[in-house]
Amino acid sequence: MASPIRSASIAPAELPDDLDVSLRPRRIDEFVGQEKVKEQLRIVIEAARKREQPLDHVLFAGPPGLGKTSLAQIVAEELEVPFVMTAGPALEKKGDVAAFLTALEPNSVFFVDEIHRLPRALEETFYPAMEDRKLPITVGQGAGARVVTLDLPPFTLIGATTRTGLLTTPLRDRFGVFHRLEHYDADDLAAIVTRSSEILGCKLDPAGAIEIARRSRGTPRIANRLLNRVRDYAEVRADGEITEQVAADALNTFEVDHEGLDRLDRMLLETICEKFGGGPVGLSTIAASLGEAEDTIEDVIEPYLLGQGLLQRTPRGRIATRAAFEHLDLPIPQDAGLF
Ligand SMILES: Nc1ncnc2c1ncn2[C@@H]1O[C@H](COP(=O)(O)OP(=O)(O)OP(=O)(O)O)[C@@H](O)[C@H]1O
Ligand SMILES: [Mg+2]
Repeated sequence: MASPIRSASIAPAELPDDLDVSLRPRRIDEFVGQEKVKEQLRIVIEAARKREQPLDHVLFAGPPGLGKTSLAQIVAEELEVPFVMTAGPALEKKGDVAAFLTALEPNSVFFVDEIHRLPRALEETFYPAMEDRKLPITVGQGAGARVVTLDLPPFTLIGATTRTGLLTTPLRDRFGVFHRLEHYDADDLAAIVTRSSEILGCKLDPAGAIEIARRSRGTPRIANRLLNRVRDYAEVRADGEITEQVAADALNTFEVDHEGLDRLDRMLLETICEKFGGGPVGLSTIAASLGEAEDTIEDVIEPYLLGQGLLQRTPRGRIATRAAFEHLDLPIPQDAGLF
Protein backbone atom coordinates (compact mmCIF):
# COMPACT_ATOMS: atom_id res chain seq x y z
CA MET A 1 0.00 0.00 0.00
CA ALA A 2 1.42 3.37 -0.93
CA SER A 3 1.25 5.83 1.89
CA PRO A 4 -0.68 8.97 1.06
CA ILE A 5 1.45 12.01 1.77
CA ARG A 6 -0.51 14.95 2.98
CA SER A 7 0.98 18.33 3.73
CA ALA A 8 -0.93 20.94 5.56
CA SER A 9 -0.48 24.25 7.28
CA ILE A 10 3.07 24.65 6.25
CA ALA A 11 4.40 28.05 5.32
CA PRO A 12 5.49 28.30 1.65
CA ALA A 13 9.07 29.05 2.67
CA GLU A 14 9.20 25.71 4.43
CA LEU A 15 8.04 23.62 1.52
CA PRO A 16 10.90 21.63 0.07
CA ASP A 17 11.90 22.74 -3.42
CA ASP A 18 11.34 20.53 -6.46
CA LEU A 19 14.91 19.34 -6.46
CA ASP A 20 14.51 18.11 -2.90
CA VAL A 21 11.33 16.28 -3.78
CA SER A 22 12.64 14.47 -6.84
CA LEU A 23 15.95 13.44 -5.26
CA ARG A 24 14.59 12.59 -1.84
CA PRO A 25 15.16 8.93 -0.97
CA ARG A 26 11.84 7.11 -0.48
CA ARG A 27 12.93 3.86 1.16
CA ILE A 28 15.42 3.16 3.89
CA ASP A 29 17.69 1.28 1.47
CA GLU A 30 17.94 4.37 -0.75
CA PHE A 31 19.01 6.52 2.18
CA VAL A 32 22.80 6.66 2.02
CA GLY A 33 25.04 6.59 5.12
CA GLN A 34 24.03 7.10 8.78
CA GLU A 35 24.36 3.33 9.15
CA LYS A 36 23.76 3.17 12.91
CA VAL A 37 20.63 5.30 12.62
CA LYS A 38 19.29 3.10 9.83
CA GLU A 39 20.05 -0.12 11.66
CA GLN A 40 18.24 1.03 14.78
CA LEU A 41 15.31 2.37 12.78
CA ARG A 42 14.95 -0.90 10.89
CA ILE A 43 14.64 -2.73 14.21
CA VAL A 44 12.05 -0.44 15.77
CA ILE A 45 10.05 -0.28 12.54
CA GLU A 46 9.96 -4.05 12.22
CA ALA A 47 8.99 -4.47 15.86
CA ALA A 48 6.15 -1.96 15.53
CA ARG A 49 4.92 -3.70 12.39
CA LYS A 50 4.98 -7.09 14.06
CA ARG A 51 3.05 -5.80 17.02
CA GLU A 52 0.70 -3.87 14.78
CA GLN A 53 1.12 -0.92 17.07
CA PRO A 54 2.26 2.60 16.34
CA LEU A 55 5.98 3.19 16.48
CA ASP A 56 7.21 5.03 19.55
CA HIS A 57 7.66 8.79 19.05
CA VAL A 58 10.87 9.71 17.22
CA LEU A 59 13.05 12.81 17.36
CA PHE A 60 15.60 13.60 14.65
CA ALA A 61 18.15 16.30 15.39
CA GLY A 62 20.96 17.75 13.35
CA PRO A 63 22.03 20.58 11.06
CA PRO A 64 19.88 21.47 8.03
CA GLY A 65 19.95 19.28 4.94
CA LEU A 66 21.18 16.05 6.55
CA GLY A 67 18.00 14.07 5.93
CA LYS A 68 15.64 14.59 8.87
CA THR A 69 12.53 15.21 6.76
CA SER A 70 13.54 12.42 4.39
CA LEU A 71 13.90 9.96 7.27
CA ALA A 72 10.53 10.94 8.71
CA GLN A 73 8.86 10.23 5.35
CA ILE A 74 10.82 7.00 5.01
CA VAL A 75 9.60 5.82 8.43
CA ALA A 76 5.98 6.37 7.34
CA GLU A 77 6.64 4.67 4.01
CA GLU A 78 8.27 1.64 5.66
CA LEU A 79 5.46 1.39 8.21
CA GLU A 80 2.95 1.79 5.36
CA VAL A 81 1.02 4.41 7.26
CA PRO A 82 -0.17 7.90 6.27
CA PHE A 83 2.25 10.80 6.67
CA VAL A 84 0.88 14.10 7.89
CA MET A 85 3.24 17.02 8.07
CA THR A 86 3.33 20.41 9.72
CA ALA A 87 5.92 22.67 11.32
CA GLY A 88 6.36 24.18 14.78
CA PRO A 89 5.78 27.79 13.67
CA ALA A 90 2.56 26.81 11.84
CA LEU A 91 0.98 25.64 15.09
CA GLU A 92 -0.19 28.67 17.01
CA LYS A 93 -3.14 27.59 19.10
CA LYS A 94 -4.21 24.48 20.95
CA GLY A 95 -7.00 24.20 18.40
CA ASP A 96 -4.45 23.84 15.59
CA VAL A 97 -2.90 20.84 17.31
CA ALA A 98 -6.33 19.39 18.12
CA ALA A 99 -7.40 19.72 14.47
CA PHE A 100 -4.40 17.71 13.32
CA LEU A 101 -4.41 15.06 16.01
CA THR A 102 -8.12 14.29 16.02
CA ALA A 103 -8.12 13.90 12.22
CA LEU A 104 -5.26 11.38 12.09
CA GLU A 105 -5.94 7.95 10.71
CA PRO A 106 -4.86 5.33 13.28
CA ASN A 107 -1.10 4.69 13.45
CA SER A 108 -0.25 7.68 11.21
CA VAL A 109 3.06 9.45 11.37
CA PHE A 110 2.50 13.04 12.44
CA PHE A 111 5.61 14.97 11.49
CA VAL A 112 6.36 18.28 13.19
CA ASP A 113 9.31 19.98 11.53
CA GLU A 114 11.24 22.61 13.49
CA ILE A 115 9.64 21.33 16.65
CA HIS A 116 11.89 23.63 18.70
CA ARG A 117 9.88 26.54 17.31
CA LEU A 118 6.64 25.25 18.77
CA PRO A 119 5.17 27.91 21.06
CA ARG A 120 6.04 27.03 24.68
CA ALA A 121 2.41 26.94 25.74
CA LEU A 122 1.67 24.35 23.07
CA GLU A 123 4.42 22.00 24.16
CA GLU A 124 2.30 21.12 27.16
CA THR A 125 -0.54 20.14 24.87
CA PHE A 126 1.71 17.50 23.43
CA TYR A 127 2.62 15.86 26.75
CA PRO A 128 -0.69 14.02 27.39
CA ALA A 129 -1.19 13.51 23.66
CA MET A 130 2.13 11.70 23.38
CA GLU A 131 1.87 9.77 26.61
CA ASP A 132 -1.78 8.82 27.00
CA ARG A 133 -3.34 9.79 23.66
CA LYS A 134 -5.49 12.30 25.49
CA LEU A 135 -6.10 15.89 24.58
CA PRO A 136 -7.71 18.03 27.25
CA ILE A 137 -9.32 21.11 25.75
CA THR A 138 -11.30 23.90 27.29
CA VAL A 139 -14.71 24.60 25.84
CA GLY A 140 -16.72 27.69 26.58
CA GLN A 141 -15.56 30.81 28.35
CA GLY A 142 -15.63 32.40 31.77
CA ALA A 143 -17.76 30.71 34.43
CA GLY A 144 -19.24 28.26 31.92
CA ALA A 145 -15.86 27.00 30.75
CA ARG A 146 -15.12 23.33 31.25
CA VAL A 147 -12.40 20.91 30.26
CA VAL A 148 -13.25 18.09 27.88
CA THR A 149 -10.74 15.34 27.28
CA LEU A 150 -10.61 14.05 23.73
CA ASP A 151 -9.39 10.54 22.97
CA LEU A 152 -6.87 10.49 20.16
CA PRO A 153 -6.16 7.77 17.63
CA PRO A 154 -2.84 5.94 18.10
CA PHE A 155 -0.12 7.85 16.25
CA THR A 156 3.64 8.35 16.01
CA LEU A 157 4.94 11.86 16.49
CA ILE A 158 8.15 12.49 14.61
CA GLY A 159 9.86 15.73 15.49
CA ALA A 160 12.74 17.29 13.62
CA THR A 161 14.97 19.97 15.04
CA THR A 162 18.16 21.76 14.18
CA ARG A 163 18.45 22.71 17.86
CA THR A 164 17.91 20.10 20.54
CA GLY A 165 19.08 22.61 23.09
CA LEU A 166 15.90 24.63 22.60
CA LEU A 167 13.57 21.74 23.43
CA THR A 168 12.39 21.50 27.00
CA THR A 169 13.45 18.38 28.86
CA PRO A 170 9.86 17.16 29.42
CA LEU A 171 9.20 17.25 25.68
CA ARG A 172 12.52 15.65 24.78
CA ASP A 173 11.96 12.89 27.32
CA ARG A 174 8.68 11.88 25.71
CA PHE A 175 10.42 10.71 22.55
CA GLY A 176 11.25 7.02 22.81
CA VAL A 177 13.63 7.09 19.85
CA PHE A 178 16.22 9.82 19.41
CA HIS A 179 18.74 10.20 16.62
CA ARG A 180 21.29 12.88 16.01
CA LEU A 181 22.34 13.00 12.37
CA GLU A 182 26.00 13.70 11.74
CA HIS A 183 27.67 15.29 8.74
CA TYR A 184 28.41 12.80 5.94
CA ASP A 185 31.86 11.74 4.77
CA ALA A 186 33.01 12.23 1.19
CA ASP A 187 32.33 8.62 0.18
CA ASP A 188 28.70 8.81 1.30
CA LEU A 189 28.23 12.16 -0.42
CA ALA A 190 29.78 10.76 -3.59
CA ALA A 191 27.26 7.90 -3.44
CA ILE A 192 24.46 10.44 -2.98
CA VAL A 193 25.42 12.58 -5.98
CA THR A 194 25.98 9.47 -8.07
CA ARG A 195 22.44 8.31 -7.26
CA SER A 196 21.14 11.82 -8.01
CA SER A 197 23.00 12.00 -11.33
CA GLU A 198 21.27 8.79 -12.37
CA ILE A 199 17.88 10.24 -11.48
CA LEU A 200 18.70 13.49 -13.32
CA GLY A 201 20.16 11.61 -16.27
CA CYS A 202 23.56 13.28 -16.30
CA LYS A 203 26.97 11.69 -16.75
CA LEU A 204 29.12 11.87 -13.64
CA ASP A 205 32.37 9.94 -13.32
CA PRO A 206 33.62 8.68 -9.92
CA ALA A 207 36.37 11.32 -9.63
CA GLY A 208 33.86 14.03 -10.49
CA ALA A 209 31.54 12.68 -7.77
CA ILE A 210 34.32 12.81 -5.18
CA GLU A 211 35.22 16.36 -6.19
CA ILE A 212 31.63 17.50 -5.64
CA ALA A 213 31.40 15.45 -2.43
CA ARG A 214 34.51 17.02 -0.92
CA ARG A 215 33.09 20.48 -1.38
CA SER A 216 29.61 19.76 -0.04
CA ARG A 217 30.16 20.63 3.64
CA GLY A 218 29.18 17.13 4.67
CA THR A 219 25.59 17.90 3.64
CA PRO A 220 23.49 15.93 1.10
CA ARG A 221 21.28 18.90 0.26
CA ILE A 222 24.35 20.96 -0.62
CA ALA A 223 25.83 18.03 -2.58
CA ASN A 224 22.69 17.85 -4.72
CA ARG A 225 22.65 21.60 -5.18
CA LEU A 226 26.30 21.64 -6.26
CA LEU A 227 25.65 18.71 -8.59
CA ASN A 228 23.01 20.81 -10.31
CA ARG A 229 25.31 23.79 -10.74
CA VAL A 230 28.11 21.56 -12.01
CA ARG A 231 25.69 19.94 -14.42
CA ASP A 232 24.73 23.40 -15.76
CA TYR A 233 28.38 24.23 -16.19
CA ALA A 234 29.15 20.89 -17.86
CA GLU A 235 26.37 21.42 -20.38
CA VAL A 236 27.32 25.00 -21.21
CA ARG A 237 31.11 25.01 -20.92
CA ALA A 238 32.01 21.35 -21.54
CA ASP A 239 30.55 18.35 -23.33
CA GLY A 240 28.02 17.56 -20.60
CA GLU A 241 30.10 14.94 -18.83
CA ILE A 242 31.15 15.72 -15.28
CA THR A 243 34.78 14.79 -14.74
CA GLU A 244 37.01 15.82 -11.84
CA GLN A 245 38.32 18.75 -13.87
CA VAL A 246 34.87 19.91 -14.96
CA ALA A 247 33.59 19.69 -11.37
CA ALA A 248 36.57 21.63 -10.01
CA ASP A 249 36.30 24.34 -12.68
CA ALA A 250 32.56 24.63 -12.18
CA LEU A 251 32.79 24.91 -8.41
CA ASN A 252 35.59 27.46 -8.60
CA THR A 253 33.40 29.48 -10.95
CA PHE A 254 30.54 29.29 -8.45
CA GLU A 255 32.91 30.34 -5.63
CA VAL A 256 32.79 27.11 -3.67
CA ASP A 257 36.34 26.50 -2.51
CA HIS A 258 38.21 23.20 -2.17
CA GLU A 259 37.01 22.73 1.43
CA GLY A 260 33.45 23.47 0.44
CA LEU A 261 33.34 26.90 2.01
CA ASP A 262 31.14 29.30 0.12
CA ARG A 263 31.24 33.09 0.11
CA LEU A 264 29.27 33.45 3.32
CA ASP A 265 31.48 30.98 5.19
CA ARG A 266 34.59 32.82 4.07
CA MET A 267 33.06 36.19 4.89
CA LEU A 268 32.33 35.00 8.42
CA LEU A 269 35.87 33.75 8.94
CA GLU A 270 37.36 36.85 7.29
CA THR A 271 35.29 39.06 9.56
CA ILE A 272 36.63 37.33 12.66
CA CYS A 273 40.21 37.13 11.38
CA GLU A 274 40.54 40.56 9.84
CA LYS A 275 38.17 42.83 11.71
CA PHE A 276 38.51 41.25 15.14
CA GLY A 277 42.05 39.92 15.09
CA GLY A 278 40.86 36.30 15.30
CA GLY A 279 38.40 36.91 18.13
CA PRO A 280 36.89 36.25 20.57
CA VAL A 281 33.92 38.09 19.16
CA GLY A 282 30.24 37.77 20.08
CA LEU A 283 27.62 36.23 17.83
CA SER A 284 25.54 39.41 17.70
CA THR A 285 28.55 41.42 16.53
CA ILE A 286 29.29 38.89 13.79
CA ALA A 287 25.63 38.90 12.74
CA ALA A 288 25.61 42.68 12.53
CA SER A 289 28.84 42.76 10.50
CA LEU A 290 27.58 40.18 8.02
CA GLY A 291 24.01 41.43 7.88
CA GLU A 292 22.78 37.89 8.63
CA ALA A 293 20.36 36.62 11.28
CA GLU A 294 21.98 35.10 14.37
CA ASP A 295 19.91 31.95 13.86
CA THR A 296 21.24 31.46 10.35
CA ILE A 297 24.78 31.86 11.55
CA GLU A 298 24.33 29.40 14.41
CA ASP A 299 22.26 26.78 12.56
CA VAL A 300 23.50 26.93 9.02
CA ILE A 301 26.99 28.40 8.83
CA GLU A 302 28.75 27.56 12.06
CA PRO A 303 28.22 23.81 12.52
CA TYR A 304 30.39 22.92 9.55
CA LEU A 305 33.10 25.46 10.40
CA LEU A 306 33.19 24.12 13.96
CA GLY A 307 33.37 20.56 12.68
CA GLN A 308 36.22 21.47 10.35
CA GLY A 309 38.17 23.02 13.21
CA LEU A 310 38.11 26.45 11.58
CA LEU A 311 36.11 28.05 14.35
CA GLN A 312 35.72 27.65 18.09
CA ARG A 313 32.87 28.67 20.34
CA THR A 314 33.99 29.91 23.74
CA PRO A 315 32.08 31.60 26.55
CA ARG A 316 33.71 34.88 25.49
CA GLY A 317 32.71 34.54 21.85
CA ARG A 318 33.82 33.02 18.58
CA ILE A 319 37.47 32.45 17.80
CA ALA A 320 39.00 31.75 14.40
CA THR A 321 41.55 28.94 14.64
CA ARG A 322 45.01 28.79 13.15
CA ALA A 323 43.53 26.59 10.41
CA ALA A 324 41.12 29.40 9.50
CA PHE A 325 43.96 31.90 9.02
CA GLU A 326 45.82 29.32 6.97
CA HIS A 327 42.76 28.52 4.90
CA LEU A 328 42.25 32.18 4.09
CA ASP A 329 45.97 32.71 3.51
CA LEU A 330 46.10 35.40 6.16
CA PRO A 331 49.03 36.16 8.47
CA ILE A 332 48.44 34.98 12.04
CA PRO A 333 48.48 37.95 14.43
CA GLN A 334 50.89 37.66 17.40
CA ASP A 335 48.23 38.51 19.95
CA ALA A 336 45.49 36.30 18.50
CA GLY A 337 43.24 34.53 21.04
CA LEU A 338 43.13 30.78 21.58
CA PHE A 339 43.91 28.29 18.87
N1 LIG B 1 21.09 10.04 3.42
C1 LIG B 1 20.67 10.58 2.29
N2 LIG B 1 20.74 9.89 1.13
C2 LIG B 1 20.34 10.46 -0.02
N3 LIG B 1 19.87 11.72 -0.14
C3 LIG B 1 19.77 12.43 0.97
C4 LIG B 1 20.14 11.91 2.24
N4 LIG B 1 19.92 12.84 3.18
C5 LIG B 1 19.44 13.91 2.54
N5 LIG B 1 19.35 13.68 1.22
C6 LIG B 1 18.98 14.66 0.20
O1 LIG B 1 19.08 15.95 0.77
C7 LIG B 1 17.85 16.63 0.70
C8 LIG B 1 17.63 17.34 2.00
O2 LIG B 1 17.29 16.41 3.01
P1 LIG B 1 16.13 16.70 4.08
O3 LIG B 1 15.14 17.66 3.52
O4 LIG B 1 15.63 15.39 4.54
O5 LIG B 1 16.99 17.40 5.19
P2 LIG B 1 16.54 18.00 6.59
O6 LIG B 1 17.47 17.45 7.60
O7 LIG B 1 15.08 17.78 6.78
O8 LIG B 1 16.82 19.55 6.41
P3 LIG B 1 16.13 20.82 7.17
O9 LIG B 1 16.69 20.86 8.56
O10 LIG B 1 16.59 22.00 6.36
O11 LIG B 1 14.66 20.61 7.11
C9 LIG B 1 16.80 15.57 0.38
O12 LIG B 1 15.81 16.01 -0.48
C10 LIG B 1 17.58 14.49 -0.32
O13 LIG B 1 17.59 14.74 -1.69
MG1 LIG C 1 13.51 19.16 6.78
